[in-house]
Amino acid sequence: MARSVHFHITKGWMNDPNGFIYYKGEYHLFYQYFPYAPEWGTICWGHAVSKDLVNWDQQEIALFPTLPEDQNGCFSGSAVEADGQLRLFYTGVHYDEVDPTNINKCVPDHLTSAQLAMSSPDGYTFDNFANKAVIIPPIGDPALGDRVHTRDPKVWRGSDGWYMVLGSNVDRKQGEILFYRSDDLAHWTFVNRKLMDPGYGWMCECPDLFALPGGDTVLLASMMDYMGQGHDESVCFTAGFDEATCDLKLLSEPRLVDYGCDFYAPQTTTDEAGRRVMMGWMRMPEPVDNKWIGMFCAPRVVEVRDGHVYTSLHPNVREALIKKTLATTTHRPYLFSLQLSEGNHANVGGLRIWQEGHRIHVDRSSVYHAKPGYEHVLSVTPEVGDTNKVEILVHGHLVEIYVNNGQYVVSNIVYGLGGSFTTDANAEITVIGL
Ligand code: FRU
Repeated sequence: MARSVHFHITKGWMNDPNGFIYYKGEYHLFYQYFPYAPEWGTICWGHAVSKDLVNWDQQEIALFPTLPEDQNGCFSGSAVEADGQLRLFYTGVHYDEVDPTNINKCVPDHLTSAQLAMSSPDGYTFDNFANKAVIIPPIGDPALGDRVHTRDPKVWRGSDGWYMVLGSNVDRKQGEILFYRSDDLAHWTFVNRKLMDPGYGWMCECPDLFALPGGDTVLLASMMDYMGQGHDESVCFTAGFDEATCDLKLLSEPRLVDYGCDFYAPQTTTDEAGRRVMMGWMRMPEPVDNKWIGMFCAPRVVEVRDGHVYTSLHPNVREALIKKTLATTTHRPYLFSLQLSEGNHANVGGLRIWQEGHRIHVDRSSVYHAKPGYEHVLSVTPEVGDTNKVEILVHGHLVEIYVNNGQYVVSNIVYGLGGSFTTDANAEITVIGL
């Protein structure tokens, strides 16, 4: 099944991007996948492949439960290339007590997590019966981390070995990141930990630590109950990291990776040209046509300029929108570009965007069904300048708004978006589409 710009499945449930990698001339993107129904349950790794980060082809399921340690799900993780092989790292979960009404779930907190590895010779063949191994057993010492909630290994090649970060927490009160090191990807040693400020949330999911081509280091972390506000948010920091000791210093305050209401659990990799490219999950309150739920945002390039983390639309998407993609899509993507000044408004088929108090506001209340747990309809950026370049990528159920080439991004899921676009902004509107 081919799909362009915003990848989503057409049946079942999808959450976090996993194992995102440019490998043997293609992008492989795995994802948390429950194929049977549009709700979360016993998780496998779905798989999609792209040559250009724009057109995606869905593949067969890559990872599924086979061992006692992953019998109830293959949670999030990452991929690296070693000796020509694709090496996958993920969290296996074992339910200690299943939910008696639905065996795809457990009684809350009654599960044990271990870290597993799996290899594939070519990125297409996955032998779940022969090629899996437990590399880090469940955490035994509660003072180090949580036996239940320690997960989402992100692995990278450092200058003298392999490194891994894991998300965890201390006493369910404070998020933490655990650092491991390995020479051979099979044997891993705990090296250090980074406690996060308790105010940021009780648990850190999907940590991603990477150095950018210019030398800056960035940490992405998805914090549960961020700032005690009752919802989970993905944040970014500029950071300093000492490989020898795995000492991580956060050099900035946390900032949202995306100021919309739905973005979560981003993951990055290095693209063909050496850029750091990020994908993130867009949470949806309800399935489309009662069939599928969950989308990914467009790929974004992560850069640091003057200490600020920018996430701009990947140039391949921009080019494809001008040139024309080959894939057949049910909704054609469009990119609108305009200059917003104080008091200016724009309306994209019912989604309202305006600048007020030097902040960009987005209100989706007329194109969204608020549900318990998904009530948010209004998004507001931090302060911006007098006049701001605002690019709006519109595609089916997702509208991404890029402010000043990725200084801030505001992405929102919408339902029933109309076709018209109006604005009182003075500047010209450029419409690029297929
Ligand atoms: C984040 C997350 C991860 C976990 C996965 C389970 O959305 O909770 O921490 O591995 O989803 O599907």
